Amino acid sequence: MKRIVVLTSGGDSPGMNAALRAIAKLGAAQGLQVFGSLEGYDGLIDGKFRELTKVLSDGAVSVDIEVDAAGGQGGTLIGSARSMRFREKEGRARAADEVRKLGAEGLIVIGGNGSLTGAHAFATESGIKVMGIPGSIDNDIGCTSTSLGVDTALNTIVEACDRISDTARAHKRAFVVEVMGRDCGYLAMASAVAMAADAALIRESGKTEDQLVDDIRAVIRNGFARGKRRILIIKAEGINVPCTRLVRMTEERMKEEVANLEIRATVLGHVVRGGNPSYSDRAVAGRLGFGALNSLLAGATDEMVGWLPPLPQGGTPTSDSSVVRFPLERVLEETKSLIDGTSPVTKRRVALMSAASGVLSL
Ligand code: F6P
Repeated sequence: MKRIVVLTSGGDSPGMNAALRAIAKLGAAQGLQVFGSLEGYDGLIDGKFRELTKVLSDGAVSVDIEVDAAGGQGGTLIGSARSMRFREKEGRARAADEVRKLGAEGLIVIGGNGSLTGAHAFATESGIKVMGIPGSIDNDIGCTSTSLGVDTALNTIVEACDRISDTARAHKRAFVVEVMGRDCGYLAMASAVAMAADAALIRESGKTEDQLVDDIRAVIRNGFARGKRRILIIKAEGINVPCTRLVRMTEERMKEEVANLEIRATVLGHVVRGGNPSYSDRAVAGRLGFGALNSLLAGATDEMVGWLPPLPQGGTPTSDSSVVRFPLERVLEETKSLIDGTSPVTKRRVALMSAASGVLSL
């Protein structure tokens, strides 16, 4: 293999650039030319590539200076998109032609659920070798304990909630803070525990709008009765009721109970997705990038490298004991069960949250 392509697809996540840098450096070290596909799968279809390595006058390969510098930055240097055209077989066939025209024999896809679904289809249809790297702040991907961006997103949420807590305590207020995560409540659960929030509202608990309002009401009533000055409720984006609606409904329901009750709603939104990657996201990105590249060179295809510290169970071990390869088909099955709630991981998360709720509200 002399040339490979790497792309970032779906919602960007901090750590994607660190993975690109690692792949470019490790590729260069082995004399490989690494190309980035611009704007995710769309770049593959349109044949829009940017070289992430450069060939020096003596024939040696080095990493591009901008790629090197971007490793510590958020977002993705080569752009990202959710390509509608790649969902069609015709789009994938055009993409395969462009990859072959470039003379590349392997593709590394960094992205979430939709991107890895595309990677699996491309690998099976084109015969081009494909490896996936989990990249999404949502932490909803199977066969990996984390994906690129999760740690940074949690740090951003914690920092934002610390700030909100300052002003909440000053005014003795309750806040409902919404965090991203699509259908997965992981960011809400993990940040609620880290923030010692009063509650986490997650889609996975299956509560109705009415029950959610009752939960918020109980937490606020009990919290203020105990003399708390800050009530913090973290709501996952997956709950299909706008934050402001929950807040207005709760205020309405509680107007007889608490005088001058003011609840504020804050949607953190895309703030959670930006920012320079944390140490952990950079380190994991480097090691997953290394694992994905080496797997491609060893002939693997239609697989993803997952992060499973400290002791991997099952899977095919690589030279890095925390990096384990799994077939994309299995990854996608586990991802589906993580989201539809049948996965033991989701069941455990929901049970842990439910057990913690009595403590969180103290
Ligand atoms: O999947 C990552 C994610 O940030 C989700 O948490 C969120 O639901 C979605 O992407 C937002 O997408 P967009 O940037 O297209 O609004």
